[in-house]
Amino acid sequence: MAGTGLFAEILDGEHVYKYYADGEWKKSTSGKSVAIINPTTRKTQYKVQACSQQEVNKVMDLAKTAQKLWAKTPLWKRAELLHKAAAILKEHKAPIAECLVKEIAKPAKDSVTEVVRSGDLVSYTAEEGVRILGEGKFLVSDSFPGNERTKYCLTSKIPLGVVLAIPPFNYPVNLAVSKIAPALIAGNSIVLKPPTQGAVSALHMVHCFHLAGFPKGLINCVTGKGSEIGDFLTMHPGVNCISFTGGDTGIAISKKAGMIPLQMELGGKDACIVLEDADLDLVAANIIKGGFSYSGQRCTAVKVVLVMESVADSLVKKVKAKVAKLTVGPPEDDCDITPVVSESSANYIEGLVKDAKEKGATFCQEYKREGNLIWPLLLDNVRPDMRIAWEEPFGPVLPVLRINSVEEGIHHCNASNFGLQGCVFTKDINKAMLISDAMETGTVQINSAPARGPDHFPFQGIKDSGIGSQGITNSINMMTKVKTTVINLPTPSYTMG
Ligand code: G3H
Repeated sequence: MAGTGLFAEILDGEHVYKYYADGEWKKSTSGKSVAIINPTTRKTQYKVQACSQQEVNKVMDLAKTAQKLWAKTPLWKRAELLHKAAAILKEHKAPIAECLVKEIAKPAKDSVTEVVRSGDLVSYTAEEGVRILGEGKFLVSDSFPGNERTKYCLTSKIPLGVVLAIPPFNYPVNLAVSKIAPALIAGNSIVLKPPTQGAVSALHMVHCFHLAGFPKGLINCVTGKGSEIGDFLTMHPGVNCISFTGGDTGIAISKKAGMIPLQMELGGKDACIVLEDADLDLVAANIIKGGFSYSGQRCTAVKVVLVMESVADSLVKKVKAKVAKLTVGPPEDDCDITPVVSESSANYIEGLVKDAKEKGATFCQEYKREGNLIWPLLLDNVRPDMRIAWEEPFGPVLPVLRINSVEEGIHHCNASNFGLQGCVFTKDINKAMLISDAMETGTVQINSAPARGPDHFPFQGIKDSGIGSQGITNSINMMTKVKTTVINLPTPSYTMG
């Protein structure tokens, strides 16, 4: 159970979870806490420490000192500790999954999957890290005009320093380790600021790293109010890199952060373009999986269907039949559709639905909401003047726009301020390739719904969807800088063979 057994030391008394710094679980001197509301019961489920700016300063100093020693730790040893953490994480998947269910209403099975996927990600990162960080480049000067072979250039990848990791509520464990593991294998230290909803899951995950035996101060996790420590963290002079996943707060962070590398993933309005020759059963299955899994609260969810008019009736009928089979209820019962994360999120979704109603969209189901629970809703005949055509509901509401040409679909996709992923369904691979090339998104899936994984694939958004590329290899590279050493010879030297 969460907060018991091995995890008892992370809990202060009965309700408030501690924060993690200097290899220890601590109570904030602020004496204040932040409540975490269970989206299903809408009552306080857990509390976490409201860390102060002074505590953030202390953590930054610790992380800086610990990083210097960690950078001198052999690569194989860093990998060994990561493998150990991955094993502990997977061994304790049940209590962590329990927190995910209670804090973010993720269905029970998906919660377990998130933890297991996270353990696999950490192990893969350890393996990939020893390979790619174990290699450098060797250049000779006489390949550039006018030079003799008098200079040998050795390049290697070195750590950046302190990495600030800010994951979102929808994957507080997986999108935390996707930042932590690459940072650590590359020789960086970590300051983690988990989302409030999801903080307790993240603290349990951090404890698994603690149990693995990482050095003191190398991994730190501060909790608290964004208004108190959010900007303070992202603008802190001790931070050498920010890896952020979330909403448009990321745009504000990128404007305020100093001259440091940024990795940002900020949401999407992933379009699903359906051509006349598509396998409509396959499309319908993918729209359900892509649009409604975790109640649509994924940045890679299908967020708008752009279907050719000639097959639209048939597709809508198939999707409607599948929507009717989705189970709706609490995450503990492993329902397909569970409450969205907060009341404000539910209100926002409702605003989009009302706007679509007023402007004449066809409701394939009746709109129904109880508390934060919104029943799955397919909106047909959505037009570009409706907000839902452009905004991401981050909920189980999916708009269908009927199009008369492929160009119209591509135009709608590219007119969005987002550019994360998109997908196209057709049996014609040549057409699919042309459409993929024309879509201004970081990834295009052919004949499948958008998705970030497998976690070693490159993952990136363009426009307001992000900066940089993720995926294990890209994240390791992003969290390093290139260092070169040039050996200057007194006379040209050539290998004679
Ligand atoms: O919500 C943003 C995530 O990066 C999406 O990940 O495609 O595995 O659900 P996913």
